[in-house]
Amino acid sequence: MPTSLITPHGGTLVDRVLRGAERQRAFENAHALPRLTLSERALADLECIATGIYSPLEGFVGEADYQTIVDTMHLQSGAAWSIPVTLQVPEEGSEKYRPDHDVALAHPNGDILAVLTVTDKYRPDQAAEADKVYGTSDEAHPGVAAMLEAGPVYLGGPIALVADIPHTEFGAQRLTPAQTRAAFEEKGWRTVVAFQTRNPIHRAHEYLTKVALEIVDGLLINPLVGATKADDIPADVRMRCYDVLMEHYYPHDRVILGVFPAAMRYAGPREAVMHAIARQNYGCTHFIVGRDHAGVGSYYGTYDAQKIFETFSDDALAIEIMRFEHSFYCTVCESMASTKTCPHDKEHHIFLSGTKVREMLSQGEMPPAAFSRPEVAKILIDAYSGKATA
Ligand code: ADX
Repeated sequence: MPTSLITPHGGTLVDRVLRGAERQRAFENAHALPRLTLSERALADLECIATGIYSPLEGFVGEADYQTIVDTMHLQSGAAWSIPVTLQVPEEGSEKYRPDHDVALAHPNGDILAVLTVTDKYRPDQAAEADKVYGTSDEAHPGVAAMLEAGPVYLGGPIALVADIPHTEFGAQRLTPAQTRAAFEEKGWRTVVAFQTRNPIHRAHEYLTKVALEIVDGLLINPLVGATKADDIPADVRMRCYDVLMEHYYPHDRVILGVFPAAMRYAGPREAVMHAIARQNYGCTHFIVGRDHAGVGSYYGTYDAQKIFETFSDDALAIEIMRFEHSFYCTVCESMASTKTCPHDKEHHIFLSGTKVREMLSQGEMPPAAFSRPEVAKILIDAYSGKATA
């Protein structure tokens, strides 16, 4: 690993992908093991663990790590970690998974992908997890709902990938941390800012990335493509928006588009920390956190996801957080701005709520160019009207 790049979280980039004869042997042996079919969310976590996106995790967390993560946002080792990455199963059928035994983890299509060596089997207090990790006990919160739905029995232990995850989408953009690191090295980028998003990139998003790009060498647009809630725009549609933007509005030699396979947890501040750690593992030195990062509804304060970083010691995270105020287009300034740079009243600011934008798009109405680039809006209108644009 090149030494000029930022150190992965915890010191070493985790690689839990078996290769060669060892992989073949483990794959064959796995067929005799008790089998656990992964949910879409658990599959995304498996990929993130195996490829080092979640370094230093080498598997799904055991009980001791789970407890310190929930209570103190740290692993037993002392490394910062804000959300427990858990493998959960329903009570019924859970008796076949036993500590000190291996389990074959299968893709939803039935293919065996990995082996989990079970070290822990536990039934934690999920109400406390909801309160501490998501800041709410509301079962309507999409992250809390997904956690409760996944089951009360938690299995922990290291994993090893014994087969390739059969992806059908985003092949060229599915860059692992080893690949993004090699790309940054090859381009000679010493500083790289990562941008997390679960939305099409609108003008405000574009503004944040470009302000950041004025300061650093390169930009990793790193959209989350794992499971999101039903009314979020699907990843394949978003990908077409990112492509068109990259083509027309970004300098080709200073931007890389690579997907982040994780599912959304909507855990606001705690998820911002996890997002930052993952981007450090990709080799990025800076991470953008704007308004209500990873938020949903009104569960979190507008800047809570920025403030949470102040609760960690200075050396807890090597990646630097670039904090942004709520940004908008100002019709008097005739540019993108925020209250840090624009003196004009709100009435001059173009701000559209997500609901309003969805309403416009579904009626075939173009949002103003000050809100979204017309090329992006067109893709979204076509998607809303059911027209294939692929
Ligand atoms: S998120 O769930 O991935 O955070 P989204 O895709 O909307 O949602 O946001 C991506 C990033 O852009 C986050 O860091 C978010 O805080 C920031 N952001 C989104 N809209 C704005 C805005 N108008 N002003 C400032 N930051 C914003």
